[in-house]
Amino acid sequence: MESMYDCYKLNNGVRIPCIGFGTYKAAAGNGAEGIETALRAGYRYFDTAAFYQNEEDIGRAVIRSGIDRKELFLSSKVWSGDLGEEGTRRSFENSLEKLQTDYLDLYLIHWPCPNHDYKDWKHLVLETWKVMEELCREGRIRAAGVSNFLPQHLEVLAENSEMVPAVDQIEFHPGHTQEMTVSYCQERGIIVQAWSPLGRKRVLEHELLTELSEKYGVSPAQLCIRYAVQRGVIPLPKASSYDRMKQNQDVFGFEISREDMYRIGTMPPAGWSGEHPDFARVRF
Ligand SMILES: NC(=O)c1ccc[n+]([C@@H]2O[C@H](COP(=O)([O-])OP(=O)(O)OC[C@H]3O[C@@H](n4cnc5c(N)ncnc54)[C@H](OP(=O)(O)O)[C@@H]3O)[C@@H](O)[C@H]2O)c1
Repeated sequence: MESMYDCYKLNNGVRIPCIGFGTYKAAAGNGAEGIETALRAGYRYFDTAAFYQNEEDIGRAVIRSGIDRKELFLSSKVWSGDLGEEGTRRSFENSLEKLQTDYLDLYLIHWPCPNHDYKDWKHLVLETWKVMEELCREGRIRAAGVSNFLPQHLEVLAENSEMVPAVDQIEFHPGHTQEMTVSYCQERGIIVQAWSPLGRKRVLEHELLTELSEKYGVSPAQLCIRYAVQRGVIPLPKASSYDRMKQNQDVFGFEISREDMYRIGTMPPAGWSGEHPDFARVRF
């Protein structure tokens, strides 16, 4: 990969940029402005979700930009409270309407279950996945994937359905790299995406990252993003200022050595959000 416009090929042949822009709270309080800035900074892949309540802002910013829809990669997610056939269909139509588009490049199941102790999640996930398969066949989404699915959740799809998810979007950053899920996915051609690739700033001052950022002459944020890229993981960093947006795509002028990749990959746990699909949220 040599720039954020370089792409991976998903398991159905669709091309996906190797870095996307995370939009959670990116539009909060300033409407479409944050997204307009990201478009100006060159981002073309936007990761949103019904839950973020910013799809309208993204739709507005895209229309105002005049950029051809085909140049954009728009991804959204069905929220855990809307799983099941009816909820997914309804949520999908809402997302399209708000984004002012007639198709999505990628559509994800946000979480595998409504909450950690929900018993009948397998049934709900399979029903939702069936809708995803239909949406693909109807040409309304170019690819379907999941988010926050661990191998035990992915196995339910593998055992009961034809279509393999194109991506799995999980929390991934130095200090929390979920190796078992990453290797499960990468062995099966499922592209891993990193949410909170900067650990939402919680890891940026870690001593190892500070040391390595000095060594490579980059910021700790750039180091985190480059780390994901070198792992074949798609980072989705969110930033508010034009400068940070630019900085976060400027990660192709250096390479982290093999030794340093191992050092980052084996550093002690750090910066975990406290979210896990099978357990109650841990508050720090
Ligand atoms: N699938 C899921 O369940 C899930 C969960 C969480 C997030 N996500 C997705 O992943 C995206 C990214 O995750 P995130 O927003 O939680 O966290 P993140 O991207 O890891 O971190 C964002 C934070 O880092 C700061 N930042 C950005 N660039 C920086 C830089 N160069 N130097 C220093 N600080 C910098 C931002 O500050 P400023 O904004 O002030 O610039 C913001 O506070 C989300 O926006 C969303 O699209 C998905």
